Amino acid sequence: MSRTVLTLTLAVSALAAKNSIIAPEGADVLTVALLGDFGWTGWEPLPLAFCNEALPKLIADGVDISTEIQNDCDPGDRSDIRNATIEQKHTARYIEDVCLKKNCSAFLSVGDNFYDSGISFDTAGILRFYDSWASVYNSTAFAGKPWYQCLGNHDIVQGQPAVDFQTHIAPLMDDRWYFGHDGLPYYTYDLVGSNWTATFVVIESDCFINKYQESSSVYLTPYLKACHKKTQQQVNFLKKSFAESDADWKFLHIHHGYMSSSSNYTELAPLMDIVQKHNGVVFNGHDHCMAHYYYQDTNFVLTGAAGYAQAGDCNYGEKLGPYAQWLGADSEQAANGFVTLDISADALNFEYYARDMRMLGSDLYPVSHDMKPSYNFTVTKQST
Ligand SMILES: *[C@@H]1O[C@H](CO)[C@@H](O)[C@H](O)[C@H]1NC(C)=O
Ligand SMILES: *[C@@H]1O[C@H](CO)[C@@H](O)[C@H](O)[C@H]1NC(C)=O
Ligand SMILES: *[C@@H]1O[C@H](CO)[C@@H](O)[C@H](O)[C@H]1NC(C)=O
Ligand SMILES: *[C@@H]1O[C@H](CO)[C@@H](O)[C@H](O)[C@H]1NC(C)=O
Ligand SMILES: *[C@@H]1O[C@H](CO)[C@@H](O)[C@H](O)[C@H]1NC(C)=O
Ligand SMILES: *[C@@H]1O[C@H](CO)[C@@H](O)[C@H](O)[C@H]1NC(C)=O
Repeated sequence: MSRTVLTLTLAVSALAAKNSIIAPEGADVLTVALLGDFGWTGWEPLPLAFCNEALPKLIADGVDISTEIQNDCDPGDRSDIRNATIEQKHTARYIEDVCLKKNCSAFLSVGDNFYDSGISFDTAGILRFYDSWASVYNSTAFAGKPWYQCLGNHDIVQGQPAVDFQTHIAPLMDDRWYFGHDGLPYYTYDLVGSNWTATFVVIESDCFINKYQESSSVYLTPYLKACHKKTQQQVNFLKKSFAESDADWKFLHIHHGYMSSSSNYTELAPLMDIVQKHNGVVFNGHDHCMAHYYYQDTNFVLTGAAGYAQAGDCNYGEKLGPYAQWLGADSEQAANGFVTLDISADALNFEYYARDMRMLGSDLYPVSHDMKPSYNFTVTKQST
């Protein structure tokens, strides 16, 4: 490399450091990891004495209780936190092992990056950024690899300051953290191979969910009220991004599931019409398990199992209809894990890696050879 080229490269990377690294270009086959619902480590529920005794008095006295405080008293999440932390860490090591074997070049997160109530730019938020993410995913397989991020419902409990943290502050704290360049909670990115291109559109699905607009919802903040009124902007953004892209493969990258075994978010239909029109593929999280759904000619990859796995989210392994192709759960437990995607000009190859969940002396979800996928499927029909 000549000195001029080197200087230029250094100058460009100094600029690039300001807003994240990107995935390598030019591979015949590029492997990326799809994962979600992981960010538990370091969350501490509020003391029971506060939630059960002080909080009712404060409410009765008319004290304004923030959505964060309400949510950090959640009894369900409180009972999950111990196992959730262990599961996140064990699954991170498992992802490391599989990704070293498969050479994952990027990590595509479907959100719920910080339980229970997201993080804002304050001392607690900065500590959680390291505890739940930067220090968990920092070994060899993760080093220098971009994370294409997305917001989940837990990420937006604190409203706009929490969105600002993930879209603006986090990319400056760690250059692996990618959230587009516009400071918006939705954006598009391309992965480019030797003879193929893939376009991804990240949508902020929290804005679409009707029940989050109810006054009792812990998600209802001025941020969510405002963005609910502007969902058409995101629909138009998806439409325009897919229409302007001549990529071989098009993906909708989103938190909530249109197809699910526990709750179908049908309010996402306007987005799904666009995906269907372009022969796209959807990947999402929210449900804490892994599944493959196929509905109205569209593949849905559920990859919400990198933290606390929950069998109920995959209906205890019982398929509710022919749309359910595969469920990573049995009658008692869902598998922890993630999905790898091998992208080439000819095909998309999805492999579902379910972890042998040995924990605290028992095996919650036995998998005999967990370095092999428990399930896989291939897409050859290109996007249009
Ligand atoms: C992993 O994949 C990237 C992208 O194709 C490539 O640049 C790199 O050389 C690969 N690494 C190994 C060890 O195969
Ligand atoms: C990853 O983070 C942990 C916890 O902060 C730290 O002990 C470890 O040294 C870090 N590893 C690397 C490779 O940075
Ligand atoms: C989701 O939609 C599918 C297809 O219409 C349906 O079979 C299934 O029962 C729905 N799931 C739930 C949890 O309602
Ligand atoms: C893309 O490139 C690979 C590697 O050179 C080749 O095997 C494959 O046939 C090419 N596919 C298309 C559709 O051009
Ligand atoms: C935590 O894991 C143990 C087994 O290691 C299991 O018996 C227990 O039910 C789990 N608790 C929760 C709340 O998931
Ligand atoms: C993918 O699944 C098929 C069965 O559907 C199986 O024959 C094949 O071995 C699987 N591939 C991998 C890499 O596990």
